[in-house]
Amino acid sequence: MAGDKYLTFNNGQKMPLIGVGTWQASDEEIETAIDAALEAGYRHIDTAPVYGNEPAIGRVLKRWLDAGKVKREELFIVTKLPPISNRPHEVEPTIKKSLADLQLDYVDLYLIHTPFTLNINEDGSFKVDAEGLLEVDPTTNHAATWVEMEKLVEKGLAKSIGVSNFSKDQVARLLNNCKIRPANNQIEHHVYLQQRDLVDFCKAENVSVTAYSPLGSKGIAAFNAGAGIVRDLPDLMDIPEVKEIAAAHGKSPAQVLLRWIIDTGLCAIPKSTNPARLKQNLDVFDFKLSDEEVAKLLALDKNIRVCDFAFFHGVERHPEFTFKNQYTK
Ligand code: A2P
Repeated sequence: MAGDKYLTFNNGQKMPLIGVGTWQASDEEIETAIDAALEAGYRHIDTAPVYGNEPAIGRVLKRWLDAGKVKREELFIVTKLPPISNRPHEVEPTIKKSLADLQLDYVDLYLIHTPFTLNINEDGSFKVDAEGLLEVDPTTNHAATWVEMEKLVEKGLAKSIGVSNFSKDQVARLLNNCKIRPANNQIEHHVYLQQRDLVDFCKAENVSVTAYSPLGSKGIAAFNAGAGIVRDLPDLMDIPEVKEIAAAHGKSPAQVLLRWIIDTGLCAIPKSTNPARLKQNLDVFDFKLSDEEVAKLLALDKNIRVCDFAFFHGVERHPEFTFKNQYTK
């Protein structure tokens, strides 16, 4: 039943419950992966300028749209205002650049990517201070940025607008200062980082939640290593309770992790560039977890944050930074 595969926003727009995540995939990888994802039936694609793959995704979308293999209204494309572009005057030119790269007239959902802002040099490189730390822009004003986000809806450049990586306080502040309520908050969410307080608050306020890194983002290790950061991250697909539930349903641990997110009322955007795993991650609509199984997974929460933005050395000095975790003081 189609209704089972979509979540409805506070403005009536429908978002497919499973989308394909695209962080940490090279240009070549992503063209093949997006092609395979569309073939597998994905219609929800999540990207961002900071992933560096919008032009590649745009090329695939254009091929599919031009060939009539998919209609624009069947697609749900999400992209984001990057951390270097949170100043109000940067909002419209930045979405226009994304739209040009994606070869689209509008996106379905446009998110403020992070609550913090970083400064860049004229050549686009990050500004670094004398200590080698990234220079933050402490003047970030979410309400002022949001006024410009709202204009994107009025101009037809984005169907819906939302935020990403926002804390409960940050969402609450925005709700008190907006004309258009955020439709979505995209956050790290999986069995080991459930952020129940934030999720329950968003749900109560009718702000839908998308779970990024729903499988624990194994790929982040390489990204962290590139920034000189070593983390001993858990393998969510190896948790005994997850494996036990998977065996009971004849499904994989990844499918159980995703179904749990859907069964608790959220969307998920698992990343994969592997055609078989892409298929597997979308094949989660023919089973459901029992209340007991959902509860068993809810009890696993350990507050283990995989994406703590430590790869942006110095970002923790920004007044809107809230990502302290088990590794940072
Ligand atoms: P790959 O792209 O090779 O499939 P997350 O979405 O939490 O960031 O997790 C993405 C990571 O999990 C990637 O390393 C991806 O690798 C891997 N992955 C994605 N789907 C599955 C799956 N069904 N089973 C095992 N690993 C998966």
